[in-house]
Amino acid sequence: MRPFKLERYFAAIEFKAEYVLCASDCEGLTMAELLDMASSGSRSLWRGLKLGYTESPGHAGLRSEIAGLYERVSPEGIVVAAPEEAIFVAMHSLLEPGDHVIALTPTYQSLTEIARSKGCRVSAWRLEPGPRGWRLDFDRLKRLANRRTRMVVINFPNNPTGAVLSPAELEAVVDFARERGLILFSDEMYRLLEWDPAARRPAVCDLYEKGISLSGLSKAFALPGLRIGWLAAQDTALAGRWLAMKDYTTICSSAPSEILAIIALQNLERILRRNRGILRRNLTLAERFFGARRRLFDWIAPRAGSVAFPRWRGSGSVDRLCRGVLDRKGVMLIPGRMFDVRDGHFRIGLGRKNFGKAMARFGEYLSA
Ligand SMILES: Cc1ncc(COP(=O)(O)O)c(C=O)c1O
Repeated sequence: MRPFKLERYFAAIEFKAEYVLCASDCEGLTMAELLDMASSGSRSLWRGLKLGYTESPGHAGLRSEIAGLYERVSPEGIVVAAPEEAIFVAMHSLLEPGDHVIALTPTYQSLTEIARSKGCRVSAWRLEPGPRGWRLDFDRLKRLANRRTRMVVINFPNNPTGAVLSPAELEAVVDFARERGLILFSDEMYRLLEWDPAARRPAVCDLYEKGISLSGLSKAFALPGLRIGWLAAQDTALAGRWLAMKDYTTICSSAPSEILAIIALQNLERILRRNRGILRRNLTLAERFFGARRRLFDWIAPRAGSVAFPRWRGSGSVDRLCRGVLDRKGVMLIPGRMFDVRDGHFRIGLGRKNFGKAMARFGEYLSA
């Protein structure tokens, strides 16, 4: 497998930078904040928890909370795993060498790299910036398909652009997959982070009998340290295949994390309200910041999620910009090449409480 560019970049800088202005998660909840939300039932689950191995598919109570997020998925159609692990497990259990995969680009690298490393051919279906936001070419999707195509991979709300499909576009992707009998793997890690409810789309696992939704607590729930995510599908036979692979990754998830995840899901609306509030405030700051510097940046507003992908139009490369802001102001940005995008884009994260201070430092760098 080729190195995971984005994760290596984070590993080198994240814990040294004063301001991480490019994080994709929302401001992490503290242990005390989460435990304060616990009902008396989940509090006693927490206190009485034995730190033994747990059920491989995930705690039954957790899977039933997760199934409650969907219309057509039962707890038997769910396997709990760390989100990154879930991508690994799904790709390894569903794909064979020689298969062809069509994957939305740009996106999180493992959504393409794991299939590629397994000997699959991966074709990029590219999101392009346009005057009214990020656009996809549906004729191109049709042209990319061939008789070996087995899977289509999408990721909306998208990391890094914040793009969302329209209802008609989502229907078109589902129809495309259904007509050809393809698996539709939908990374929905940023779903539920729609500050405008009109941007919320149904989960692919509810829309399509061969659809798989990946979700988890890392982004929308502000709990990446729990390492809890899941795969969800209507077809319960898939869970058996995922579990056969999970035996070679973690076998089962962390016992304390599962109980904390139950508490989070039982308090979903409260946690989402907090996170969407942070995002809304930061989005207003971002719009003001980039709006006042139109000669230096193209600002393509995200529709949902916790990241955006503006474009640098000033002098020098975007890599030089990112390096300069880090070296002189201690502010971390991510250049687009970490997503294989090389035309000046960079990622910012909208989920942190110190966003305003970090943007002020960024502004100082630009005016120096
Ligand atoms: C689109 C997407 N999918 C999956 C993941 C993996 O999530 P985790 O880091 O919690 O394993 C990320 C993390 O950034 C992501 O952005």
